Amino acid sequence: MVNIYDLLNQMTIEEKVGQLIQLSAPFYSNVDDITGPMNEMNMTDEKIYQVGSVLGLTGAKLVKEVQKNYLEKSRLKIPLIFMADIIHGDTTIFPIPLGIGATWNPILAKRMAEISAREASVQGLHVTFSPMVDLVRDPRWGRVMESTGEDKFLNSKFAKALVSGYQGENILESKEHLAACVKHFAGYGAPRGGRDYNSVDLSENTLRDQYLPAYYAAIEAGAKLVMASFNTLDNMPASGNKKLMRNILRNEMHFEGVLISDWGSIGELVSHRVATDLKEAAELAIDAGIDIEMMSAAYSKYLVSLAKQDKLILEKLDEAVLRVLKLKEDLNLFENPYRGADEERESNILYSKEHLDEARRIAEESFVLLKNKDSVLPINNLNNVALTGPFKDNRNILGAWSWLGHKHSPKTMQEELSEVVTFEENLIFEGQASFRLSFLDNIETLIVAVGEDVEMSGEAASRVDITLPKQQICLIKELYKLRKKIVLVIFNGRPLDLSEIEPFVDAILISWFPGSAGAAAIKNVLTGKTNPSGKLTMTFPRSVGQIPIFYNEDSTGRPFSVSKEKGKYFSRYLDCHNSPLYEFGYGLSYSQFKFNEIKLSKFEIWNNDELEISVDITNISEVDGWEVVQLYIQDSVAKLARPIKELKGFKKVFISSGTTETVKFIITEEDLRYPHFDNIFTSDPGEFLVGVGNSSSVEFSKSFILRK
Ligand code: NOJ
Repeated sequence: MVNIYDLLNQMTIEEKVGQLIQLSAPFYSNVDDITGPMNEMNMTDEKIYQVGSVLGLTGAKLVKEVQKNYLEKSRLKIPLIFMADIIHGDTTIFPIPLGIGATWNPILAKRMAEISAREASVQGLHVTFSPMVDLVRDPRWGRVMESTGEDKFLNSKFAKALVSGYQGENILESKEHLAACVKHFAGYGAPRGGRDYNSVDLSENTLRDQYLPAYYAAIEAGAKLVMASFNTLDNMPASGNKKLMRNILRNEMHFEGVLISDWGSIGELVSHRVATDLKEAAELAIDAGIDIEMMSAAYSKYLVSLAKQDKLILEKLDEAVLRVLKLKEDLNLFENPYRGADEERESNILYSKEHLDEARRIAEESFVLLKNKDSVLPINNLNNVALTGPFKDNRNILGAWSWLGHKHSPKTMQEELSEVVTFEENLIFEGQASFRLSFLDNIETLIVAVGEDVEMSGEAASRVDITLPKQQICLIKELYKLRKKIVLVIFNGRPLDLSEIEPFVDAILISWFPGSAGAAAIKNVLTGKTNPSGKLTMTFPRSVGQIPIFYNEDSTGRPFSVSKEKGKYFSRYLDCHNSPLYEFGYGLSYSQFKFNEIKLSKFEIWNNDELEISVDITNISEVDGWEVVQLYIQDSVAKLARPIKELKGFKKVFISSGTTETVKFIITEEDLRYPHFDNIFTSDPGEFLVGVGNSSSVEFSKSFILRK
C-alpha cells in the first residue's frame, strides 16, 4: 500500500510540479519516442517522465504501453492518469446532452453515463471531462449542445445522475467506472453576446441563485474533479480567480477533489492581461488553487523556481500534489495502474448491440415534437411517403463531441426508413427545385430532413443567425407549393429560430444530433412505434433579437400582457411578441392528456411542514403515452424581484389510454429559499402561487401561505 504523504516527502520539487502538468496525446502516442511540441511546453526527456496525467489518449493497448513505459522510466513510479472528453458516449454515441435533457429522464442520463464509462474504461481511460452543467440561456452559443438546458432545478438532477452513472458506487473497486470532472466552473454558459470564450458578467445574486446549483449538485454527488472555465467573472478569469476557487468552491461548496484548468487557460491569463507573463500566470493560478495545468506551460516553466523561492507557494504546491495523489489512490492506480484497460474485452464491449439498443431508446425519448397539425404524425400509410432534404442520407449525425464515435457506422434516415417504407423513387432536390411531378401524384406526405451541420454547434461554434441554412428554407417553401403534408425532421445542436418556416409545415420533430442509433429512433417515432415524450429544456425564440430568452425571467416594473396590447410604456418589443415560439417544458405527444384540478394537502405551511401537491392526469386519447408533469411556483411578494415562475418538481409518468394517474409533489420551506441581499439562502413568509401542467406556460391555479 502506498502512503501518499510518505510519497510526497520523497518527491523533489521538480517531481511535484510534474504531477500538476497534463499533456495531450501527441506527446505520448509514440511510446518509445515521445515527441509533441516539446519546446513550447518546456518539456525535456527527464520532465516527460514526471508528468502526472495525459489528455485524449485511448485504446487499451496503447494506454497500457504508455503506462508501462512511463513506469519503467520514472523514478518514483507514480502512475499516469488518463483523461479525456467522453461527453455523450465513447464509441457508442448517445444524443447530445441538450437532447439528453429533453428526455426529462435522469435515469436515462445515468444509463448513458454508465455505458460511456464502461466503454471508456476498457479503452484505458480513468477520468472524463463531463458532466458539463453550465446553465444556458443564449442559443447563439454553440456549446449549449453540451448542456441539459436553462433551468437550475432540472440541470441539478441531471448533474447528479451523470456523476453517479460515471462514478458508480465504488470507484476504487470497479474497473468499469470513471472519475467525473464537472465543468466549467463557473458561469461559462453566459458568455456576452453568445460568443464563445467571451467574458461573463453576472450579478452575484444570479450566479448563486441560478448558475451555481448544478455544479453544487455534481459536487454533492461526489464528482472527483472540477474544471475551471475560460471566462472571467467579476472581470477575473476563473483560472486566477481566488475568490471563486478558494472562497466559493473550496470553503463554501466544500469541494476537496482536484481542480484542473481548461485547455491552456492558465496561459490565457496573459491574453486576458491580468498577468504580464507565464510566470505571473503560474503564481495567480497556484494561488487560486488550480491543481493541474492543462496544456499551457506556466507551471512547467516557472513553478519550480517559484516554489523554491517562496514557502507559501511550496505549501500550495504540496496541497495540490496531495490532491492529485489522492485521486490516483481513489482510482486504485497505485495497485493497478492499468485499471480497466483490456484489449480482449474492448472488442466485446465497444459498440455492442446492447449499447446501441440503449442509444436508440434514449434517442427516442430525446426527440421533441413541436408541431403536429391534424395529427399528420404518426404516419399510418407508409406507401405514399417521400423523403427528401439534405439530411436524408447524411451519416454525420453523431454530434460535436463524438471524436471516438464510429463516424461511418450510423445508418441514415433513408436506410432506416427503407426498411418500412417502399419508396418508389426519392424526391430529388437539386439547386432550387426539380421535382418529378408525376411521381408525386401518389405522394401524400413529404418527410423533409434538414438541419445544421454538426460543425455549426459545439466549441468555438457561435452563430448570430440561428435559422436553418437559407437553402433549406427555400427548399421548404418550394415543397409547400406542392400541397402535400410536410413533416420536418430537424437535426440541430441548439434551439433554432423556426419562425419563418413554421407556417409552411405540418409537423416538426426536433431530433438534435441523435447519435449512433439516431435514424432508427427517428423511424420508430415517425411510424408511431414509439410515442414521442421529449420536452424542451431550452426556449426556442421567435427571433434572435429576443435572446437571452428563458422562461424564468425576473418580474419587471412594467410587465406586459396581451390585455395591455394598446399601451406603450410596457416591457415589450415593438416588432415582436415577448413570448417565445416554443417555450421551456413544451413538447407534444401522440396522446392527449387532461390535467384535472390541483389539490393541496394544506393551505399554509410552517418551517418543518411538508405540503403535498397532487394532480390527476387522464389520457383522453386512444394512444398510451408518457407525460412530463411539471410543477411551477411563484413567490408572490418577495424581498427581491424574483422569477415569474420557477420549476420545483417534475415527474415523467406513463398513462395508458383512457386511464388516470395521480402525480404527487412534496414542497417544504427549503424548496422556497433563494439568496437574499447577504447571499444567505432563506425564504420569504407569505403567499406562493402553484401551477401544474405540461409546459412552462401553465397558469397558476392555487396558492398556499408560508408562515414563520
Ligand atoms: C476545452 C473545452 O473547453 C473543455 O470542455 C474540454 O474538456 C477541454 N478542451 C479538453 O479537451
